[in-house]
Formats: sequence, C-alpha cells, structure tokens
Amino acid sequence: RAELIRSRIVGLLEAFPDYPRPGVVYQDLSRIYAEPGVLDDAADHVRDHFSGRFDRIVAVESRGFVMGAVLAARCEVPLTLVRKPGKLPGAVHSVGYALEYGEDRLEVRQGAIAPGERVLCVDDVLATGGTLLAAAELVEASAAEVAGSVVLVELSGLPGAERLKAYDLLSLCEVA
Ligand code: PRP
Ligand code: MG
Repeated sequence: RAELIRSRIVGLLEAFPDYPRPGVVYQDLSRIYAEPGVLDDAADHVRDHFSGRFDRIVAVESRGFVMGAVLAARCEVPLTLVRKPGKLPGAVHSVGYALEYGEDRLEVRQGAIAPGERVLCVDDVLATGGTLLAAAELVEASAAEVAGSVVLVELSGLPGAERLKAYDLLSLCEVA
C-alpha cells in the first residue's frame, strides 16, 4: 500500500520551477487535496505505520493543517494546531527557527499538549526541516514526547531528513 500511496501522491504533485524565487521548485499539493480519498488512504497508512504509538496529532500552520486534521479524524486522536506568532490567546510556548532569509517563530498554547503525551507532528512538505524541528521543540517544551513526524512530500537533496532523524520521520513520498 505504501507504494500505491507514493505513486498517487507523486502523480498528483505539480512542480513550479522558480517559484516563489529563482532556483526554488515549488511543489503544489492542490490536486492531492482535490482528489477524494487520497488523504484518507494516506492517513490510514500513517496510522498503521505508527500502530497506536501516539496520543495526539500536532499540525503546523498553515499547510500542515489539512493532513493533520484528516489524520486526527482517521486515528480518532486529539488535534493541536501549532501557529505562527501572535495568533494564539493566553500563555504560549514559542520557538524560533531559521528561514533562508531571517527567522520565524511557531507557537502552541501552554497546556494544549499534556505532559507525557506521545505526539505525532504533521506537515505537508519537508525541506530544510526547520519547521518540523520547531514543532518538535514545542512538543518537548510542553513536557511531552515526539512519537514521530509525518510529511506528504520530502524534498530530497535538502538536509531536512537528516536533521529530523532523531524523530522517526515518515515521508509518504520523496521528490527531487
Ligand atoms: C512551507 C511548508 C512547510 C515548510 C517546509 O511552509 O508548508 O511547512 O515550508 O520548509 P522547511 O522544512 O524548510 O521548514 P511555509 O513556512 O511556507 O508556510 P505555510 O505552510 O503557512 O504556507
Ligand atoms: Mg508550512
């Protein structure tokens, strides 16, 4: 089934060279989201791969929300949204991470993730790994444990997978 899911995702991806900047190939997932059943089948595969070894899904704003929500529903586990800065009320944990130019932050509400929970971090695409590493740091700042991380698309040739190897990474497909 892993190979079937991989080939469906790869077949639906659309690559846009030199977007948003020269030299960058943008992988657009719109056709994956537009195809009924693809995310559900992918989510079932993720659920079986991690076979009950997680208690909560953390999904990263904004493009990680789509798969995160599907996965939480399919696995019948709670969903927590990790957000860009200034979007969450109340006390937050906040982690900075480097972008190609400058830095950004991700936040999660304090208390949103219970201490000791096993958390699966979900995003759409893995490039440098900075985003998912920041999400993992937020899980750890909540005194919880990263059970693994999941992406629909891993961009090969970037250091993302290497940086995430401490966090049991499952990439549903890899593209150059
Ligand atoms: C994109 C993508 C991933 C991240 C991957 O998000 O959705 O979250 O970049 O890159 P990285 O592995 O180098 O961190 P982006 O920050 O563009 O924001 P968005 O999801 O809100 O569009
Ligand atoms: Mg994103």
